[in-house]
Amino acid sequence: MKREALARKIIEKATRRGYTVTKGALRLLEQAEAPLEVLDEAMHRLERSGAMIIDELLLMELLKARRESREMGVAEEGEEVAEAAEELEELSIEVDERFLREWRIQGASEEFQRYFLSRYEKLSRILRERLGSAVSLREAMRLRESQEASIIVMLLEKHDSKKAWILRVDDPSGEHRIIVPKEGVSGDSPEQLLQDVVFGARIVKNGDALIARELILPDVAAERLEKAARDALICMISDIHVGSKHFREDLFENFLDWINRDGDPEARNVRILIIAGDIVDGAGVYPNQHKELEVFSVEEQLKKMSRLLSEIPERVKLVIGPGNHDPVQRALPQPPLPEKYRAILEKSGRSMIFVGNPAWMTIDGRTFLVYHGQGLDDIIQSVPGFSHSNLERDLGDLLKLVLRCRHLCPIYGETTPIIPTPEDLLVVDRVPHVFHTGHVHVAYAGSYRGVRIVNSGTWQEQTSYQRGVGLEPTVGVMALVNLRDLSIKLRRFA
Ligand SMILES: [Fe+2]
Repeated sequence: MKREALARKIIEKATRRGYTVTKGALRLLEQAEAPLEVLDEAMHRLERSGAMIIDELLLMELLKARRESREMGVAEEGEEVAEAAEELEELSIEVDERFLREWRIQGASEEFQRYFLSRYEKLSRILRERLGSAVSLREAMRLRESQEASIIVMLLEKHDSKKAWILRVDDPSGEHRIIVPKEGVSGDSPEQLLQDVVFGARIVKNGDALIARELILPDVAAERLEKAARDALICMISDIHVGSKHFREDLFENFLDWINRDGDPEARNVRILIIAGDIVDGAGVYPNQHKELEVFSVEEQLKKMSRLLSEIPERVKLVIGPGNHDPVQRALPQPPLPEKYRAILEKSGRSMIFVGNPAWMTIDGRTFLVYHGQGLDDIIQSVPGFSHSNLERDLGDLLKLVLRCRHLCPIYGETTPIIPTPEDLLVVDRVPHVFHTGHVHVAYAGSYRGVRIVNSGTWQEQTSYQRGVGLEPTVGVMALVNLRDLSIKLRRFA
């Protein structure tokens, strides 16, 4: 951090809480290793005494105590640290290039047919492994009375009647209805079957009808974790919303302060910082957005982000993907930020990899699926029981449902636009080690059948829209994943 900028931040932070920093104290803080943390400590110490002046004497005392405690703990670690740093230089990142291009389509009906056929084929390959053999809908209609079979279909429509769900489904051979009785059906819940999702069903022929006995979503299979990866931390954040009046720059500064602390073994071990979209708040993203903006132009917002990113230590590589607030094509799959905007961020002087949304990457043998999460809104609207106001409780189940459907945005034609690419790139066609999302501004860390799931919350206070839907954001949060054992830790900056 530049000296003048740091001095300004120290003074702002102290003044906000009513404290005065003397000149001598400011000089000591500027030279300290974790200046904002020391300042917090000083204010905390004064809170008890009621004094409001942070002076040289107080700081000398605090800095001495910090030096002593560090010397005690770190002395014998020195050698190990140097070795680890050297070893981690080689951390490799391979980005799946299918997600780096910008797709152009004509809007012809064949493009949509091809897109849905690709979705069907990719997901039916996964389902076939679970179901064994399956017949087409046309063949199912030719079954003998009471004969059983498995089918793989896409859901077109779902009706709820008193005793059963009626599902209108299709596959490449045709279209038909399946009756799912409300009692006596095993497997996945028909309530959680989303429109346009591909699923399997064990059915029995009954007159002209196909009656479901079991419903099966593609799901993920648990994989054994190989131990090859190194002890290195990947830091994951999202939804920074620079430019918004609600952006908590002070908390983000605390994060920057932490990541710069070479004396903190965790901070020192961070090698990659992944930002999963909504880097800036953007402009014209929703009606009357200007009322909630502090910085009105996207270029200025990016310049501010660039200044903040210049404070990331050079040992940390940045991976940046877009979200729905960033200046890039809105429909999924989103390409990386356009060149002119990347150039603004690159002025930070940091090493950056720009990825699309979603993005697949392999970091030192571990697979990361990074997805901003636009489609989550549509799933929340569709599934009874899910709501924006209950995400603190249900976000884990929501993200697990995405993995069980093996599709990042199954519902076509709702609020999230999707480009009908020749290959459906939103199918989760491999099982990632880490699934990182954002967008809903609520933090979550958990795991499902071996997949580590993270939602990295936000750096923006509650907006008026969120207040309206009762969403309580998790503000000022990052997730840390250790490549060695994929353990996850969420940390909040206050
Ligand atoms: Fe966001």
